[in-house]
Amino acid sequence: MSRIVYVNGEFVPEEQGKISIFDRGFLFADGVYEVTAVVNGKLVEYDPHMERLDRSLRELNIAWPCTTDELKAMHLEIVKRNALKEGHIYMQVTRGAADRDFKFPKDVKSTLIAFTQTGSLIDNPNAKTGVKVVTVPDIRWERRDIKSVMLLAPVLAKQAAAEKGASEGWMVEDGKITEGASSNAYIVKDGVVITRPLSHAILPGCTRRALMRLAKEHGVKVEERLFTPDEAYAADEAFLTSATQFVMPIVEIDGKRVGGGQPGPLVRKLREFYLEEVVKG
Ligand code: PDD
Repeated sequence: MSRIVYVNGEFVPEEQGKISIFDRGFLFADGVYEVTAVVNGKLVEYDPHMERLDRSLRELNIAWPCTTDELKAMHLEIVKRNALKEGHIYMQVTRGAADRDFKFPKDVKSTLIAFTQTGSLIDNPNAKTGVKVVTVPDIRWERRDIKSVMLLAPVLAKQAAAEKGASEGWMVEDGKITEGASSNAYIVKDGVVITRPLSHAILPGCTRRALMRLAKEHGVKVEERLFTPDEAYAADEAFLTSATQFVMPIVEIDGKRVGGGQPGPLVRKLREFYLEEVVKG
């Protein structure tokens, strides 16, 4: 059975999900997106994702494609129509379709599309073994706080990682790690979680936001500061967070084992705290 996808107000089988070749998302990457996890058929961190969507749209002057209630109804309906139990929803808003011209077109309607993908989030086997990352230069633009669909740099980073047997690229700018190609980056040293503070240099992760709150609630110290690849190699533990990986231990960086090559105790605990909350709904 084919997936049911959403395109500009309609739910259709995926083969029929089509947009214009003049869509500015296609021509200029003039659009933004969100990826929301689904566990037990329920949306995870929905409100933070939509707050961030609103911010991304405002920063780029793209009109909302529908009301916030309609968008929530669409998310719930696409889960239902695909009987999605665990996985995520990808949704994208672009400035719309208009003849090719760089400046904003007048009287154009935003394009809204969404589709579901199934995946193992709670019992993800990678969480037991941990994952490998490699560092790559951060060649992205200067507004990484906007969740733009302009993802060529992350595509190249992930490909470089895959070619070295790793699953994520940690991006480096001015000798400091910014974040992962599609995740936020953390190390642990002497019981303290270290992660880069929010700024235009990184995406404000919804999972990051939950993790920071959980760390506080459970008395885990967090230091928001820049860190180098050398510090990461020498860290006791390392991990990443995202809506698709949740809290994921890292056991190798640039071929160097971190924390003896096993998921560390603090990251395992943080993952448990997060899963507990997600499963509770
Ligand atoms: N990516 N940083 C970047 C550059 C990201 O693309 C993402 C998410 C994150 C983590 O944000 P969140 O916790 O809200 O998922 C950080 C999604 C999952 C993706 O592009 O598939």
